[in-house]
Amino acid sequence: MTTWHLECSECPRSEPGQARASVCPDCGRPFLVRYDGTLPSRDALVARWDMWRYTPALPISDFETPVSLGEGLTPLHELPAVARRLGVRRAWVKDEALNPTASFKARGMSAAVTRARSLGVAGLVVPTAGNAGAALAAYGAAAGLPVRVYAPEGTPSAILDTIAVFGATLQLVAGHIGDAGRAARRYAAECGYFDVSTLREPYRIEGKKTLGLEIAEQLGWRLPTHIVYPTGGGTGLIGMWKAFAEMRDAGWLAPDTHAPRMIVAQAEGCAPIVRAFHARQTRAAPWENPITHASGLRVPAPLGDTLILRALRESAGTAIAVDELAIRDATHRLAQLSGVDASPEGGCALGVAEALARDGGLPDDAEVVIFNTGSGASYRS
Ligand SMILES: Cc1ncc(COP(=O)(O)O)c(C=O)c1O
Ligand SMILES: [Zn+2]
Repeated sequence: MTTWHLECSECPRSEPGQARASVCPDCGRPFLVRYDGTLPSRDALVARWDMWRYTPALPISDFETPVSLGEGLTPLHELPAVARRLGVRRAWVKDEALNPTASFKARGMSAAVTRARSLGVAGLVVPTAGNAGAALAAYGAAAGLPVRVYAPEGTPSAILDTIAVFGATLQLVAGHIGDAGRAARRYAAECGYFDVSTLREPYRIEGKKTLGLEIAEQLGWRLPTHIVYPTGGGTGLIGMWKAFAEMRDAGWLAPDTHAPRMIVAQAEGCAPIVRAFHARQTRAAPWENPITHASGLRVPAPLGDTLILRALRESAGTAIAVDELAIRDATHRLAQLSGVDASPEGGCALGVAEALARDGGLPDDAEVVIFNTGSGASYRS
C-alpha cells in the first residue's frame, strides 16, 4: 500500500499526504511528494497500457482507480539522421503528441485530477499557455468535475477549441500566463475551486515523473546521457530528475547508471532559466516582456525555478536559448527527419541540441533524448 507525505522543497515544513495542499504556507515554495519507504521493486509494475503501469511509484492507494484517458506509454523513436547531424552515437525523439489532447500535460493532469477528486474538490481551475488547459478540461470531464481555464489572448485557437469541446469555462486574459495565474488564484479563493497551476499542487510533477520512468524502461532500464527538455514551468524536467533518484534508490537501475545531463531548452524571447543558470543564481528573476511563438515556453517567472536550477547543477547539465527562426527551422526539420508532428516546443528542443553540438557540448558517444512535448497540429489553425 503506497503512502506518502508532502515535504516543502525549500524549508522543513511537511504535511500529511491527504492534505489539500497548495504551496508551503511558511515559505511559499512548492511541496514535493515523498513516499514512505523506498518504492517496491520494478516487478510490481502493473500490466496496463497507460502511465498507471507505474502505479507503485505514483500517489494512489490500492482502493482508488485513477482518472485516466490512456495517457503515457508514448513512443521513443530512434533517429539515426538526427544522431548523424548532432555527431552523436544515438538520438531519439520522445513523442508526447500522442497523449490525450495531444500533449504531455495529460500525464500531470491525470495524476492531479485523481488526487483532487479523492480530496472531494468542488471544481478545478488552471492558468495555462494552452495545452495544460486542454488536458485539464478533458480530465475534469472524465472525473465529472467542472473546470475553469484562464489562458492568454493569442493562445493557439485549435487549443482553445479543444478546451471548449470538453465543456470547460474559458476566460481569456490580456498578458501572459503570469497574468492568467493571478486571475485563476482570485477565482479559486472566491469560489473554492482547486487551483492546479504548475507546482501550486504537488501531483502534476508525479504524473510528469512517468516521462523518466518510461524512458528508462524503453531503453532497457538504462538512461540516455543527455535529455533536452523544452522548459516553461519545468514540471517535466523536475519530475524526471525526481524519477531518476527514486529509481536509483529502489534499485530499478543498475548501480553504475549515470544520471543524464539535463538540458533546458528555451526561446530567446523568454529565457529566465537560461539567464539565471549562466549567472549561477538559485532563483530566476522574472523575464520582462516574454515573447515566443512556442507558447508553452512563454513562462516568465516559473515557480519551480529553484528546483529546475538545482536539477541542472546536480546533473551537470546546461540551459540554452535559440531564436524564433531557429525554432521554426528546427520544428520543420524534426518533422521531416522523424515523421513526428513536431510542436514549436519540440522544435526548440532540437534547435538547442543542435546549438549544443555546434559548441562542442555533445561528445561523440552521447545518447540524446529530445522531447516533442506537444503536437504541431495544435498550432495550425
Ligand atoms: C507543448 C509544450 N511544451 C512544453 C511546455 C513547458 O512545459 P513545462 O511546464 O513542463 O516546462 C508546455 C507548457 O505549456 C507545452 O504546452
Ligand atoms: Zn517551505
